[in-house]
Amino acid sequence: MGLYATVMDSITEYSGLSPAAFFTIAALMVVVYKVVCGMFVAAGDYAAVKRTNIDYAPREPVQLGDVTEDQLRAYDGSDSSKPLLMAIKGQIYDVSRSRMFYGPGGPYALFAGRDASRALALMSFDPQDLTGNIDGLGASELEALQDWEYKFMEKYVKVGQLVAEKSTTGSTESVDKLQDSQKLEGS
Ligand code: HEM
Repeated sequence: MGLYATVMDSITEYSGLSPAAFFTIAALMVVVYKVVCGMFVAAGDYAAVKRTNIDYAPREPVQLGDVTEDQLRAYDGSDSSKPLLMAIKGQIYDVSRSRMFYGPGGPYALFAGRDASRALALMSFDPQDLTGNIDGLGASELEALQDWEYKFMEKYVKVGQLVAEKSTTGSTESVDKLQDSQKLEGS
């Protein structure tokens, strides 16, 4: 009897299965093993993933003080070395801890680096509503905006406020003036 026949006979004798059934089951077990292993990250790969995410490690919010709208745009998440900032009613909050919402590719990325008061009050994703100008809003919309402001005050650190122009003399223009200028732009 040849080696091949001996092996096949032994398989049947020890497993009680036909050689075809035995090899089919063995192949399925290999597939299952591979699939289950694929669900886990190898220790080396995990270290690599952590290294690439190092930019997103939580940092202490830095106080920025007076910031113009143009300057705020730089904090929209496109530069991962900068915090993610967003403003409501001219008050700027560090929303870096919610990068999954406001970071690039996030569902609310369009709000980052902006005063999103109008968009939030109206629950709108229209780019035209990405402004701090809240003129003409109704009572319930202003109330919705107030709720958003409370949520942000509670959840995030305030790091500055929007000003129309950064003053060199130390005195700053008010957010009202910023909103006035936006009104003029919009008209
Ligand atoms: C189909 C409609 C929507 C669904 C299902 C939805 C769902 C959600 C969910 C599940 C969260 C996470 C809440 C949390 O974990 O704290 C969230 C957060 C948020 N949503 Fe929506 N949303 C919708 C529409 C909108 C719209 C229209 C706006 C504004 C224009 C908006 C603005 C936000 C903001 C700003 C946050 C983040 C708040 C934070 O920083 O904690 N959402 N949304």
